[in-house]
Amino acid sequence: MKSREIHLTAYPKGEPGPDNFELAEVDIVAPGNGEVLVQNRWLSVDPYMRGRMSGMRTYVDPFQIGQAMEGGAVGEVIESNNPKFAKGDWVMSMQGWREAYLSDGKGLQKIDTSLLPPQAYLHIAGLTGMTAYVGLKRMIDLKEGETLWMSAGAGAVGSAGIQFAKAMGAKVVATAGGKEKCDFCLELGADAVVDYKQTDYLAKSVREAAGGGVDAYFENVGGTHWTAALEVLKPKGRIAVCGMIQRYNDASAQPMPDNLTNIIAKSLRVQGFIVSDHMDLLGDFMTDLSSWMMAGKIQTRETVKDGIESTPDAFLGLFRGENFGKMLVKL
Ligand SMILES: NC(=O)c1ccc[n+]([C@@H]2O[C@H](COP(=O)([O-])OP(=O)(O)OC[C@H]3O[C@@H](n4cnc5c(N)ncnc54)[C@H](OP(=O)(O)O)[C@@H]3O)[C@@H](O)[C@H]2O)c1
Repeated sequence: MKSREIHLTAYPKGEPGPDNFELAEVDIVAPGNGEVLVQNRWLSVDPYMRGRMSGMRTYVDPFQIGQAMEGGAVGEVIESNNPKFAKGDWVMSMQGWREAYLSDGKGLQKIDTSLLPPQAYLHIAGLTGMTAYVGLKRMIDLKEGETLWMSAGAGAVGSAGIQFAKAMGAKVVATAGGKEKCDFCLELGADAVVDYKQTDYLAKSVREAAGGGVDAYFENVGGTHWTAALEVLKPKGRIAVCGMIQRYNDASAQPMPDNLTNIIAKSLRVQGFIVSDHMDLLGDFMTDLSSWMMAGKIQTRETVKDGIESTPDAFLGLFRGENFGKMLVKL
């Protein structure tokens, strides 16, 4: 059979564009002994993929030029010669950016689609939800009654994080770009919201929205948000450094904020993390998520683009702020 996949054509300098990607057609042979053939149905695009396009190893290897890119995906087994998988099983893998693939079963995880739609495993019930959970539970150790600032609140991690923080009994101030996104954050339960595109003094706006300083900051954005957070955090505040998307497309190094000494003066705790280092929390996450879902505390939103050929545009759309909730590609 034929399958189409997206290859990286060159490591971008600065902002990537459509020219950095190409659609390629490949032949897939029938599965051999111990192999399965999987048809992907949903692909995830994520900001961290920009780091894998830099050509340098960060915490993961870079994508290879001229080869299919990788990413989270869920799909259906359409042929199986592996006793662990049957035709019709739904599986999650890192074999994204392609329509179909052969696998020996390693790295495939069966998912239960009877309770949740399959693509939910690419967001709320997958690494996205887990990221928000790890940041709040382990990095920040959020307590009932505390005030949290959730940045990129209308995005995948942010929208999960707002709801988790509310379920943990915190007060949440969210920031997002544009009125529609801010309204979405309020719908998710945020107590107050700031449109960072409409203020020229972000720290002041967040402080006013919070009714004072904040106890904790969930960093998804970096840059101007990071500077503002150092200003608006209360003494002994905690920062979970999850991502810094504002800087991912910078072609050259940017100056450090001039208020870094606040980390000392306010005794702030700044803790970066990679979600995959904290999989020991998966059981707790699943237990808490299930009970919050059963209590009706969790809603999800997806921004969906159609067809393998739209995957680069879906990815680039993350940097244009096009997504409400999780950005996905449906095949
Ligand atoms: N540490 C980990 O293990 C881990 C795991 C997953 C994700 N992350 C990080 O978590 C963050 C959120 O990831 P996600 O998957 O949930 O993505 P996302 O928030 O769903 O999508 C990206 C959002 O970031 C905002 N954004 C894009 N460019 C921006 C810029 N130049 N300045 C300010 N905001 C910008 C946009 O929202 P607005 O329209 O509101 O600006 C956009 O919708 C990212 O930084 C990602 O790298 C880290």
